[in-house]
Amino acid sequence: MLNSSLYSSRRSRLINQMQRGIAVIPTAPEMLRNGDAHYSYRYDSHFHYLTGFDEPEAVLVLVAGASPQSILFCREKDVEREIWDGFRHGPDGAKENFGFDAAFPIAQLDDKLTELMGNQPALFHPLGAHAAWDDRILALRARVQTQVRSGITAPNELHDIRLLLDEMRLIKDSDELAIMRRAAAISCAAHSRAMRATSPGKMEYEIEAELLHEFRKSGAQAPAYTPIVAGGANACVLHYIANNAALKDGDLLLIDAACEVDGYATDITRTFPVNGRFSAAQKDVYEMVLAAQTAAIAAARPGAHWNEPHDAALRVLAQGLIDLKLCSGSVDAVLESGAYKNFYMHRTGHWLGMDVHDVGAYKLEGNWRALQPGMALTVEPGCYIRPADNVPKALWNIGIRIEDDVVITAQGCEVLSEAAPKTVAAIEELMKRP
Ligand code: GLY
Ligand code: MN
Ligand code: MN
Repeated sequence: MLNSSLYSSRRSRLINQMQRGIAVIPTAPEMLRNGDAHYSYRYDSHFHYLTGFDEPEAVLVLVAGASPQSILFCREKDVEREIWDGFRHGPDGAKENFGFDAAFPIAQLDDKLTELMGNQPALFHPLGAHAAWDDRILALRARVQTQVRSGITAPNELHDIRLLLDEMRLIKDSDELAIMRRAAAISCAAHSRAMRATSPGKMEYEIEAELLHEFRKSGAQAPAYTPIVAGGANACVLHYIANNAALKDGDLLLIDAACEVDGYATDITRTFPVNGRFSAAQKDVYEMVLAAQTAAIAAARPGAHWNEPHDAALRVLAQGLIDLKLCSGSVDAVLESGAYKNFYMHRTGHWLGMDVHDVGAYKLEGNWRALQPGMALTVEPGCYIRPADNVPKALWNIGIRIEDDVVITAQGCEVLSEAAPKTVAAIEELMKRP
């Protein structure tokens, strides 16, 4: 059952921040895959955050000021279309069940918006997100401008509504955190299942199938992003998604995969030996990445700035790369020269939420922002060692990333993805063969 008061209170908070003017926030369009077959539909995150409404062809309009209003435009009931495509709320049902002040058929959007925009001082919209919507909204504003001789004015200020919405979404409320915990639990079960299912000779896609099975059977709607199931050298290709190679005895398998539940993403990576036992060289690199991750998680606490977890991971990795003879000189010199980037070329995390790389500024007025309770982020150091003359052969093609999802709390952080085995001992125990 939808908790409509949760969404209406988010709309009220946004309206209060707008202070005056009108906001137009469309959901995502349906996308054709080929012929007349569509990709499975995913609503726009901002729109859904404010409505809980998951049908396509819908637009939320908010009016701020003395008489605030929230108005939905959506598809009408249609017996014929509902036989083919399924249930539609229709404007009356949407108003009733989702707590809008008013709801109208989507076909009336242009005419009603022209009325609603009249005499509003400001227009808020996700400017630049969708060129077609920008054009349509500006054309409607131009239509309002033609009424100037009747004494009606068009909005004079244009604002990107995302500046307000991104900041709201950055701090997760308890309802959001409850969904993210559920999504993380399912994703962790999928990683454990994948470890149990892995053995030499299996194909990467067979392990991907185990992940997808666990996601769907547990009620997740979809993977939050295309799973990376990368054996051996494939793990050194950061965005490897072919997932079509055979898994080899003696190689590692890197899996970056997690599900989306009710619009919230998780993002988890584990790396483990295909045969269930780390080699000495694999273990050395793995322990280095794990130590870097442990240091980064310890740095994810309120008041720390955004880059502190990354800096903490980098120091541990730089020392580790020196110990492994992959870099030379002092830790400071390795950090200064960027020599570590041959082996660690991405950052240690990103915001996480409705989008896997979630919204929210990383810097405020040029400075890394401070972490606050309710912010969710990933912590994902790695090490990717491609074959090269100056690299010890035992380390060639070792690609390791360990990625967890954390939420900043009053004291430090909560690791949502703790249940996916991560230490060498826990992984080897889970993968122990009779
Ligand atoms: N799976 C995408 C990322 O780790 O950022
Ligand atoms: Mn990931
Ligand atoms: Mn990530």
